[in-house]
Order: sequence, then C-alpha cells, then structure tokens
Amino acid sequence: MARGRAVEDRIVVRPAEPADLPLLTELSLRFFDYLKATVADEFWEGAETEPERARADFEAAFARDELVLIASLDGRSAGYLYGRIEPAYVRESPIKAMGYISHCFVREETRGQGVAAALALAAEAWFQDRGVTFIELRYSLSNKAAAAVWEKLGYAPQRLTCRKKLPSRGESEKARRAP
Ligand SMILES: CC(C)(COP(=O)(O)OP(=O)(O)OC[C@H]1O[C@@H](n2cnc3c(N)ncnc32)[C@H](O)[C@@H]1OP(=O)(O)O)[C@@H](O)C(=O)NCCC(=O)NCCS
Repeated sequence: MARGRAVEDRIVVRPAEPADLPLLTELSLRFFDYLKATVADEFWEGAETEPERARADFEAAFARDELVLIASLDGRSAGYLYGRIEPAYVRESPIKAMGYISHCFVREETRGQGVAAALALAAEAWFQDRGVTFIELRYSLSNKAAAAVWEKLGYAPQRLTCRKKLPSRGESEKARRAP
C-alpha cells in the first residue's frame, strides 16, 4: 500500500498520559476481545479480563516509565502500543537489553492506513533513544494479519514456541484403568 506524505500527516502518534487511562482501558479490552475471538489457542478459552485490571496494568506501566503510545487518525483515537525494555534472554550475550512490544492494536475501522506502522516507528525511536537496538514481539501463528504486518515492518521470525498438552494425573490413571 503506497502511502504519501498527505496520508501520513493524518496520523499522529504521542506518548500516553494518565488522562488517557479510560481510552487505554477501552482499547486494550478491544484488543483482548479481538485475540480471544480470532486466535485459535486453548489458552484463550474462558479467558476474561476486568476493566479495573487493564487500567491497573497501564498505571503500573506509567509508574515504571514504560512505553505507552496512542495514535490518532484525523483527530480520532485509532490505536495504541505498549512496550518495555527487558533483559536479554541469554545472560552472556553482549546485548544486555531488548525492546519488547507487548500490545499493538488498531481499531478495525482505521486499519490498513498506516497506523500500526506509525506506532512501530515511534516505538523504535523510543527504544533507540534508550540505547536499545533489538526489538522483539510475539504473535500467534494463527494471527495471519499480525504475521504479515510485522514481517512488512521488518520483524522476522526468529524463534518458535512449542507446546505439548499433557493429560492431568486423573486422566492418565483413568486411561490406564480402562479395559
Ligand atoms: C495488526 C494491526 C495492528 C495492523 O494495524 P494497521 O494499522 O492496519 O497496519 P498498517 O496499516 O500500518 O500496515 C502496515 C503494513 O502491513 C500491511 N498490512 C496491514 N494489514 C494487513 C493484513 N491484514 N494482511 C496483510 N498485510 C497487511 C500494510 O499493507 C502495510 O504494508 P506496507 O507498508 O507495505 O503498505 C491491526 O490489524 C490490529 O490491530 N489487529 C488486531 C490486533 C493484533 O493482532 N495485533 C498484533 C499482535 S501484537
């Protein structure tokens, strides 16, 4: 999708502030609902989140000076990004800190217009300003849109999370007793 300057000028990305807590809560609940409805993963079955808990998570992010960005399109809130700096997962690595993008959500009606790209660009500048030059994020294999978008924005898959579901003790014993 070609985006000229005129289109990019419609998008504004800014750091979130405590007055944005109701908006961030609303957007993050939409993000949660989207993932729950579309990502085929047993971890989401029955998962519920409370508005108070979502709000408390952002309050904690503000208290830790983490990255919380809000994007607007034509003056209306369009999406948000939440990220933070984490220790590198290999202690011996000369890379001591990694950027981590935890949430990125764009309202359905404003998708495909460069909002996530603008959020990612602003997040990258925030990490660079703090000396962080590697950024990671996660998405489910079934989230094809996320896979396409992140690949386009330069985030190449590096590691795969593997999962095996074990039967509970009770289930194993029942299976052993069965004739
Ligand atoms: C993923 C998401 C954040 C993308 O937001 P967006 O504002 O629509 O993305 P952009 O318009 O900035 O697109 C960025 C690039 O990805 C491409 N893209 C966007 N949506 C796409 C899709 N569904 N399939 C393929 N490519 C897509 C765009 O064409 C653009 O590429 P370009 O620079 O070559 O033109 C948005 O779809 C969303 O909120 N999804 C639900 C939440 C989610 O899954 N978040 C990701 C997990 S963290």
